[in-house]
Amino acid sequence: MKDDGYAVRAEGLEKRYGEKRALDGFDLTVRAGTVHGLLGPNGAGKTTAVRILSTLVRLDGGRAAVAGLDVAREPREVRARIGLTGQYAAVDEVLTGRQNLEMFGRLFHLGGRRARARAGELLEQFDLTDAADKGVGDYSGGMRRRLDLAASMILTPAVLFLDEPTTGLDPRSRGEVWDSVRALVAGGTTVLLTTQYLEEADRLASRVTVIDRGRSIADDSPDGLKSRVGGDRVEVVVAERADIPRVVKVVARVADGEPEADETELRVHAPVTDRVTALTDVARTLQDEGVRVEDIGLRRPSLDDVFLRLTGHRTETTEKEAAA
Ligand SMILES: Nc1ncnc2c1ncn2[C@@H]1O[C@H](COP(=O)(O)OP(=O)(O)O)[C@@H](O)[C@H]1O
Ligand SMILES: [Mg+2]
Repeated sequence: MKDDGYAVRAEGLEKRYGEKRALDGFDLTVRAGTVHGLLGPNGAGKTTAVRILSTLVRLDGGRAAVAGLDVAREPREVRARIGLTGQYAAVDEVLTGRQNLEMFGRLFHLGGRRARARAGELLEQFDLTDAADKGVGDYSGGMRRRLDLAASMILTPAVLFLDEPTTGLDPRSRGEVWDSVRALVAGGTTVLLTTQYLEEADRLASRVTVIDRGRSIADDSPDGLKSRVGGDRVEVVVAERADIPRVVKVVARVADGEPEADETELRVHAPVTDRVTALTDVARTLQDEGVRVEDIGLRRPSLDDVFLRLTGHRTETTEKEAAA
């Protein structure tokens, strides 16, 4: 496969673990110089895809090229051009942030002086200069992820794989990591970012591939994806199950598509375009009609909404949670 403006090209990737098909004909193209989101629930195959593309795992079928190089035939050359940040941070707790980066620099044969200089630049770039000489054990979650990102950037890779860089972080730390990722791309690196959050893909990626059970089920811009799902939704939770049909009727008047009713959670929701008007309309009408409302609000579409729309089923994690 030749270099044709794509940083990643994968066709029909297969990976089996015993009976389990972790990847089952997975396709992906990532344009050079962009952030590409790989969006899917737990167990969808995101990490397996990243591990194959970063040559850590051998594929059972299909083919893939990264930076124009075949991952099966030229793994060493691929490895020289990529960076990888795993789902769990790989930094040493006892060392300081600066010592960690200098150690990674030496692992990559930079030599003492260049390793020190590169560590200084990266600490600056990831806004860690003030904490540089503190032990990593005292870092917040967001600071650790930023240090982890910095470590994967020691050699300014052409393609950087970020596997769920913000899973488990609080909203503020998540925002800090997002800023760091934006800074990376401004420097010309192509980023493949896996995530379970539609919002994260929306904030960072110019294109998103949705993965389900080892296959790509959609490839679109974040806006395209959101408009297929219906954008923002108004959501009402009622106190009495008997009120659901009335609420469905009220919501339908302002909705931009069929309202959906969840009889167990006593929840009615529907896509809306003019979100604030829709919300105030529904709230006023329900109050006038004397319907007892437990909760009412606007909700941005979630991964679960995307799945329901694209596959007709919810994410398996949510199904399990609902059954529990
Ligand atoms: N080393 C492994 N051995 C056995 N099964 C695995 C292994 N790695 C992944 N799997 C299975 O493959 C599927 C995809 O996993 P993974 O790629 O980790 O998904 P994700 O990163 O999207 O959560 C899951 O069902 C997982 O249990
Ligand atoms: Mg994973």
